[in-house]
Amino acid sequence: MSKKNLLLLPGDGIGPEIMNEVKKLISFLNTKKNLDLVINEELVGGASYDKNKTPLTDDVLYKAQDSDAVLLGAVGGPQYDKLDFAKRPERALLRLRKELRLFANLRPAICFSELVSASSLKPEIVSDLDIMIVRELTGGIYFGEPRGIEPIQNGERKGINTHVYTTKEIVRVTKVAFDLAKKRNKKVTSAEKSNVMEAGLLWKEEVQKFYDENKQYKDIELSHMLADNCAMQLVRNPKQFDVIVTDNLFGDMLSDEAAMLTGSLGMLPSASLSEKDKNGRIRSMYEPCHGSAPDIAGKGIANPLAMILSFAMALKYSLNFDEVSDEIDKAVRAVLKDGLRTPDIMEDGKKKVSTSDMGSAIIDKLN
Ligand code: IPM
Ligand code: MG
Repeated sequence: MSKKNLLLLPGDGIGPEIMNEVKKLISFLNTKKNLDLVINEELVGGASYDKNKTPLTDDVLYKAQDSDAVLLGAVGGPQYDKLDFAKRPERALLRLRKELRLFANLRPAICFSELVSASSLKPEIVSDLDIMIVRELTGGIYFGEPRGIEPIQNGERKGINTHVYTTKEIVRVTKVAFDLAKKRNKKVTSAEKSNVMEAGLLWKEEVQKFYDENKQYKDIELSHMLADNCAMQLVRNPKQFDVIVTDNLFGDMLSDEAAMLTGSLGMLPSASLSEKDKNGRIRSMYEPCHGSAPDIAGKGIANPLAMILSFAMALKYSLNFDEVSDEIDKAVRAVLKDGLRTPDIMEDGKKKVSTSDMGSAIIDKLN
């Protein structure tokens, strides 16, 4: 079986602990399932800043560009809050996204039926919820120019960011959404603010044009929704959605909202993918949706499942191990069914376990 190179970037806070569980899983898969996954581990975020005075060194960026997939734990912590923008841990993420051209961010929001009572919504609204948010990740207001903070008169200042999208940027992420919907429940909802923003109107028009011109997607139902309405519909009746495609900023917000519907941010993985380059290679990065949770770091109580599910997504979308990926998904459901819970998803009558117990339980299921 061909070698695959994985770059592990555990990062800050609970990142190293949850990545440890993926490392255990990788060595199990290499020995017991004959996978040939070669891992390389590097610093990112605050951990990189502490050593190198930058959240992402060029060397690590090149390694990321050279690997078959990047797995990232989490970045950030209160000790870095006062640093300049360019030195903050989050910059590492944004630079990796931009330099690896990871324009398509897939954020599934799945409500595992075993965890339905962890949601703040009524069980019937969220049970078996399965939504995929496709967030544009390298454009829009996150990266638009001009940007900055400038002095104006009277000692006042002005902050500037630019929300900008081109046809190409909209079309390529739209295609990702339609291709996913084809394999799912055949519905795409595009969310924008075409009522107030020109870039939103362009977004809507280009999504519609893509749909009209590509007949292979005619079995898919397309609807357009204003992003504020979409936020409301997500809590009113989330099961009306299948795939939601949206820009970078709305995607950031809507995906947090969707994640919380499931009641367990500690359960949700994500994938970020590039286009094919000249040699047919797609670059990719996988990370949990949750943050670095500095308050519980180092205690061995973090939930490793989002990290493990992110690794499962890497097996499916980048490494061509669909079957192993499905087995991991099943193992996660099985341990939840057995009643194992890290503290973040703990309920009466269930068995509280540590980060490493949870990781080991997944491996036991695969054995
Ligand atoms: C996310 C995060 C990031 C973002 C931050 C950490 C830069 O909120 O991945 O959703 O805003 O994109
Ligand atoms: Mg976010």
